[in-house]
Amino acid sequence: MIGSHERVLVTGGAGFIATHFIQHRIANGVESIASIDKRTYAALPDTSNRSAQHRSVSGNIGDRGLINGLLREYQPIAIINFAAETHVDRSILFPGDFVQSNILGLFNLLEEVREYWKTLPDADRERFRFLQVSTDEVYGSLAPDALPCDEEARFAPNSPYAASKAAADHLARVYFVTYGLPTVVARCCNNYGPCQYPEKLIPLMMLRAIAQHQLPIYGDGRQIRDWLYVEDHCAALDLVLASGRAGETYNISAQEEHINLEVVLKLCTLLDEFHPRSSGRYADLIRHVTDRPGHDRRYALDSGKIRRELGWQPKETFESGLKKTLRWYLSNLGWLQSVTMHKPFSEWLVLNYGQRGTI
Ligand code: DAU
Repeated sequence: MIGSHERVLVTGGAGFIATHFIQHRIANGVESIASIDKRTYAALPDTSNRSAQHRSVSGNIGDRGLINGLLREYQPIAIINFAAETHVDRSILFPGDFVQSNILGLFNLLEEVREYWKTLPDADRERFRFLQVSTDEVYGSLAPDALPCDEEARFAPNSPYAASKAAADHLARVYFVTYGLPTVVARCCNNYGPCQYPEKLIPLMMLRAIAQHQLPIYGDGRQIRDWLYVEDHCAALDLVLASGRAGETYNISAQEEHINLEVVLKLCTLLDEFHPRSSGRYADLIRHVTDRPGHDRRYALDSGKIRRELGWQPKETFESGLKKTLRWYLSNLGWLQSVTMHKPFSEWLVLNYGQRGTI
């Protein structure tokens, strides 16, 4: 059992979910937390997690010397690995980056963690946890009438991103089975919430709608995603860290399946209410554009195991979470603007949407 006061090292600590996770632990009274992040385009400003309890280091999980030094100096009782390239469209354009970070980076991290773990006293070696943050995308696309995937569903990844995460899950399992390192895997569905980098559907649509730009829906927009508010995900991860069994996998989802087009229409309706346009409705900005290659039609997760075994349940419905998220973006227009003006973001819009015929 790992208590909420104990020393945890967070890798990929400047990303969206990791930033919320660090804030969640600090809000729950943790005395010390350390993070490492290589600060790529998607890193949130270093200020977002600045607090006396938090030590943040700049660097790559594949840098074994750096990881070795950090582990020996900080002496964590648990590591939670968020470090990953996470955007499916980017993985289609730059698959090598995903193999490098999500597979080779994890391999190097696991090797260093294994060496460090061996040096711990017996009782700590048993309590130690390496939590790999994974995704429902490893299970691939579901038929409309198929039951949601439980932890035993077979892997069928369809994008370079999903394949790299599937390989990472296998590595985490192998380090448990072969070396006894107490790894646990948590597979979550689509997250949303404040300060998500606006390459993902919900923040991208908010940003573009607020700027009065067209809203690009891939293909017919009838794809289904299972949505979870980010803070509910963080609470689940904290529980898995504290009480999850070594060698096990836990699916995390609110079982809130929604069709993309309906998500965007819902957002438009909320914006009409909270931030009306000077003329017309936000939904007028919707445009169907060329589909994503290999686009998964439906994701849906069965999260019965974490609910039964660890007593987790989400606090937010999709409706309440979306309203909170939208209010945050509307109160932080400066944040949105700073991301939009950042060169990698404008380059991304041209690269990903330029050929799709709308933006
Ligand atoms: O399922 C969990 C996964 O969810 C995470 O592991 C990934 O890191 C995360 O990127 C996300 O993958 P998706 O591909 O589902 O998320 P994304 O926000 O990119 O897209 C959500 C849906 O919206 C998907 O069906 C594609 C569609 N879409 C997305 C964008 C960016 C559009 O129609 N237009 C867009 O411009």
